[in-house]
Amino acid sequence: MKNQTRDLAFADDFISAQLVENVSDFDVEDAVVVNISPSAMVTGTEHPAIVPAWKSTWLKGGRIKSAERAALIKVKQPTNLGGCVFRGWDWLGNRIRSFPRDTPLYISAQDEIGTVTVDPYVFTNERNVAQEPQTFTLKLNLWWSPGDTDCFIHNEHPFLEVHTQIHGTGRMQKFKERDQVTLYEDVIMPIGYSHDPFCRVTGQNKWTYPWHRYYADTDSVWLAVELHP
Ligand SMILES: [Fe+2]
Repeated sequence: MKNQTRDLAFADDFISAQLVENVSDFDVEDAVVVNISPSAMVTGTEHPAIVPAWKSTWLKGGRIKSAERAALIKVKQPTNLGGCVFRGWDWLGNRIRSFPRDTPLYISAQDEIGTVTVDPYVFTNERNVAQEPQTFTLKLNLWWSPGDTDCFIHNEHPFLEVHTQIHGTGRMQKFKERDQVTLYEDVIMPIGYSHDPFCRVTGQNKWTYPWHRYYADTDSVWLAVELHP
């Protein structure tokens, strides 16, 4: 069935968020459209364009010609958006004991989308052609932080991750050590942008991340796309 659509777990009165599967000629009034699949998404009508796997764009009266799976997300009510912390979003410090006690980083409900088969080396752009396809569970959630939030330098994840900016402006930053003065890359994240994967696969279900953090320049909502083995 084409254009199977449902709300994502974090959709509410402030944020519209939909999953569309088997996408075909699907018009988008105004939303960040994220290609949450390992195959290309095609947008446009007269001038079709490719949104590569795990990348995104901002459509405003545009059309998805075809896609395996897409997430369509838009902050439609920015006033009191930060009240998400009273609407069921969880402070990360409640989940991680070592998380800094004064850092306002909040996580939405997580949505388990289904499985996806991908060669992790293709996901990380270390290989062009799949040689070792593997099945992962795809999970999505949103994050929220007010402006000027340091969302904590870390380098461990039991999953492959990328992020898409939904609201506001932030940066994905990389460091030589767990110290912000050792910054060596600053990737600016405007609305609709997904950073490239930056982990490296080192073995079966093994990968390494550089020290990294998200930094919210303004009040920000961003999407986490996680592939769990
Ligand atoms: Fe991370």
